[in-house]
Amino acid sequence: MEHLNNLLCLFSETCKNAFLNICLCINVQSRPKTGILMLNMGGPEKLEDVHDFLLRLFMDRDLMKLPVQNKLGPFIAKRRTPKIQEQYSKIGGGSPIKHWTSMQGEGMVKLLDEISPETAPHKFYIGFRYVQPLTEEAIEEMEKDGVERAVAFTQYPQYSCSTTGSSLNAIYRYYSNRADRPKMRWSVIDRWPTHPLLVECFAEHIQNELLKFPEEKRDDVVILFSAHSLPMAVVNRGDPYPQEVGATVQRVMEKLGHCNPYRLVWQSRVGPMAWLGPQTDEVIKGLCERGKKNLLLVPIAFTSDHIETLHELDIEYGQVLGEECGVENIRRAESLNGNPLFMKALADLVQSHLKSNKPCSRQLTLRCPLCTNPTCGKAKAFFSKQNLS
Ligand code: FES
Repeated sequence: MEHLNNLLCLFSETCKNAFLNICLCINVQSRPKTGILMLNMGGPEKLEDVHDFLLRLFMDRDLMKLPVQNKLGPFIAKRRTPKIQEQYSKIGGGSPIKHWTSMQGEGMVKLLDEISPETAPHKFYIGFRYVQPLTEEAIEEMEKDGVERAVAFTQYPQYSCSTTGSSLNAIYRYYSNRADRPKMRWSVIDRWPTHPLLVECFAEHIQNELLKFPEEKRDDVVILFSAHSLPMAVVNRGDPYPQEVGATVQRVMEKLGHCNPYRLVWQSRVGPMAWLGPQTDEVIKGLCERGKKNLLLVPIAFTSDHIETLHELDIEYGQVLGEECGVENIRRAESLNGNPLFMKALADLVQSHLKSNKPCSRQLTLRCPLCTNPTCGKAKAFFSKQNLS
């Protein structure tokens, strides 16, 4: 600053003021007014990141409660690492989720700067739960950037306390572990299962894939909407996820004019506990046994490709199980990934959220009727009591 003042002494007072105004202007322009934190669990980008990803996941008490978790969590993470590394090596050596989230974020903020100049400039941040960039690091960056208005935007269209809830609890904990209050005004887009453009994207991808079936088989195709399952203990405490996934499926089928028969099925069950079913693999087997051998798998609860689409659906079910069961045709609808219409959906969600001036949905304010996690209540209060004016 001293150097700048010395330099400015050489100029007249008018020039000096003009120069300072330009500096101020550049500074204000480059500072994002609105920061959008894109929340997701993330995935390991490299094989060597798999262990830490699993360790964070098995230590997350918002996701699962294990007996002696600080011992059992690291033990399970270590034991599962080689198997999961093998799966990632079969899909190119890592998760593409950061790549897709960055592309979606860039498309979203570009559109937002155009359609919502009053809240511009917009900047997106990625806040993953189990790999870098971690949610806590992203918040720190947002605070450092001087963001005025922060939007926590879940990238899971349907709300579960195990996914979006865990990310929101992490934001709450970030601030509660620090003495200072947030400098940014926070709000949250906590669910969007029936957003019209989301529904349109899914319908478009299903139509595109249906066209790849032989014409004479197209009518016989059974559409299997597959979502990550939940332990029944989570469902039975009142988690809203199964109902919200069902709502997405319903809207998508309405958009498609109920062109084919369909079912909602659940994948990725692990361990000996009871999980929400029917399980995707068992349904594929059951349908094939009953002569329904043309199947279209549709990932409905995740918008970008990840290991559950690229490995579980494509390799485990599409290739190995499909062959075992003697399917005629089994295909998977493409994930929304880089679809420009999906970026438009994201921008539209943020724009209408900002316009609404509401801190969160009414639904977020209600804890699961049988919730025993005190952090949930505090995190919900943190968001619902934000003063946005
Ligand atoms: Fe759903 Fe706590 S587990 S609100």
